[in-house]
Amino acid sequence: MCGIVGAVAQRDVSPVLLEGLKRLEYRGYDSAGLAVLNHDKQLQRIRVQGKVNELKQEHQASPLKGGTGIAHTRWATHGKPNLNNAHPHICRDTVALVHNGIIENHEQLRTEQIASGFEFTSETDTEVVVHAVYEALQSTPDLLQAVFTTIKQLKGAYALGVINNAEPDRLIAAREGSPLVIGVGIGEYFIASDVFALLPVTQRFIFLEDGDVADITRDKLTIYDSNQNIVERSISVSELNADVADKAGYRHYMLKEIFSQPNAIAESLVNRTNDGQVVSNEFGQDAESIFQQVKAVKIAACGTSYHAGLIAAHWLEEIAQVPCQVEIASEYRYRKSVIVDNTLFVSISQSGETADTLAALQLAKKSGFLSTLAICNVAESSLTREAELVFLTHAGPEIGVASTKAFTTQLVGLFLLVVAIAKHNGLSNEEEASFVKQLESLPGRVNQLLQFKDDIETMAKDFADKHHALFLGRGSFLPVAMEGALKLKEISYIHAEAYAAGELKHGPLALVDDDMPVVAVAPNNHLLEKLKSNLQEVQARGGKLYLFADKASEVESTEGVYVLKINAVCDFMAPILYTIPLQLLAYYVAVIKGADIDQPRNLAKSVTVE
Ligand code: AGP
Repeated sequence: MCGIVGAVAQRDVSPVLLEGLKRLEYRGYDSAGLAVLNHDKQLQRIRVQGKVNELKQEHQASPLKGGTGIAHTRWATHGKPNLNNAHPHICRDTVALVHNGIIENHEQLRTEQIASGFEFTSETDTEVVVHAVYEALQSTPDLLQAVFTTIKQLKGAYALGVINNAEPDRLIAAREGSPLVIGVGIGEYFIASDVFALLPVTQRFIFLEDGDVADITRDKLTIYDSNQNIVERSISVSELNADVADKAGYRHYMLKEIFSQPNAIAESLVNRTNDGQVVSNEFGQDAESIFQQVKAVKIAACGTSYHAGLIAAHWLEEIAQVPCQVEIASEYRYRKSVIVDNTLFVSISQSGETADTLAALQLAKKSGFLSTLAICNVAESSLTREAELVFLTHAGPEIGVASTKAFTTQLVGLFLLVVAIAKHNGLSNEEEASFVKQLESLPGRVNQLLQFKDDIETMAKDFADKHHALFLGRGSFLPVAMEGALKLKEISYIHAEAYAAGELKHGPLALVDDDMPVVAVAPNNHLLEKLKSNLQEVQARGGKLYLFADKASEVESTEGVYVLKINAVCDFMAPILYTIPLQLLAYYVAVIKGADIDQPRNLAKSVTVE
């Protein structure tokens, strides 16, 4: 989703802005641009409909020089992805602005501004903001005051970076509902949508809070809260290295991230278990006393994180015997729901910036839950700052838009949560120790599964010319199938749907023919025989089956049935493990199709608008 970079420095800021945009590419975008105030106080701008590399080329041909600038990657919401709609937007050669978020009352503001004589050059919701700042500057020469006046008129979500040619060493940043971080340099300051953008120039960051406005010059930073009072926001030192976004020799970030799962899982377990026990305090200081009181769990998340929640619901009900409801965050936030006493609210998000998940958590905080927990991969994200309890998955930055290692480490975090709750609901020490052992065996087991890469690459050839695919699972493997289908559709653009295998004959069986590959996850559990019957139904209709099955499940490859056999594994760990081959399948199909794997069309890594 849109990425913002800005800088006020003595040096020429264009290289910092361009590198920052490059590092934000993973968020997803369709156009890019930058504006710099040159030494003659003139605003210069370059925009492209396309990639940051094209912007770099244009910049190389006619470089922009100056110490104050803003830059942007745009993910279209209002108006097509074209040059006119690309940011920065400029009003009357005076004010330039970049924006991430959605201005909900833009139509009304646009009508008023047109009546006042402003000309619009784009279809964006953002352009009203730059005109509003210009208009406010007609009553005050002070950019900060003009931004204060402007944001009072705005409804919706925004992260803003604003510069004005009358005050060439000043940058104003504002945040409401969309992420924005300030990078603290020596005699220079930067802003960006996330820390990755700025790691080459600083390790020190201030995370703005909702309602904050920052007045930034080269040597001074003043932050105002939503009441316009000056506030101190602490500086965090990032432990991430600038080269964290390296592909390490892999062809795509996604492949690197799939293969880093043994390590990501191992990292996510460090200090989380001790002597065969789950360390509850890893969820927060009060976690133990909260877990003692849990009588129900409500989970809200989006996309892949939602699938992790669905799997966790099976674990919670089976292992901890605690009822659990899982909701799509964008649905939950707008519906009236009944909260059972002592319900723990759990939000799951890789990025911690997903607008719907964040809104669901904010709603939950006002709704009388026992407590709120965020399971997240990004420390200092909006979600982790909002929740009362936090479990950080230590997967390391995930750059590929398709979530892989974030998912499996979320599952690890969720399993630890289940055990931590179950301890207060009859789980014995021996059972806990056995679960801990199973968790600790995961990195090695994931590694074994990654060795199937060549088999799966071969299997992928059968999918590349198909337009549809069906994924089947039962019980906790239905969400695994859903995750497999999501991976396939998002990176290979093949339409894929997941069904509970028992639902097949209630409709989707009508679709099955030799042109519709059917993928099924078949662990050796109490549902295997049922699943086998469902698969017979597919075979009888000429459907080609791709089975990921337990070695002991006694299913063999035959004409039209391709079986990939997986070592026996405890049923509770199996959803984590069976996900791996499905990730590889989606990846190799997308490779064969020549798709843009790390930045699939129309998608964004960090979905900061609803
Ligand atoms: C996963 O492959 C997707 N890109 C997407 O569904 C993602 O999981 C979803 O947008 C939620 O993101 P989050 O985990 O950062 O909240």
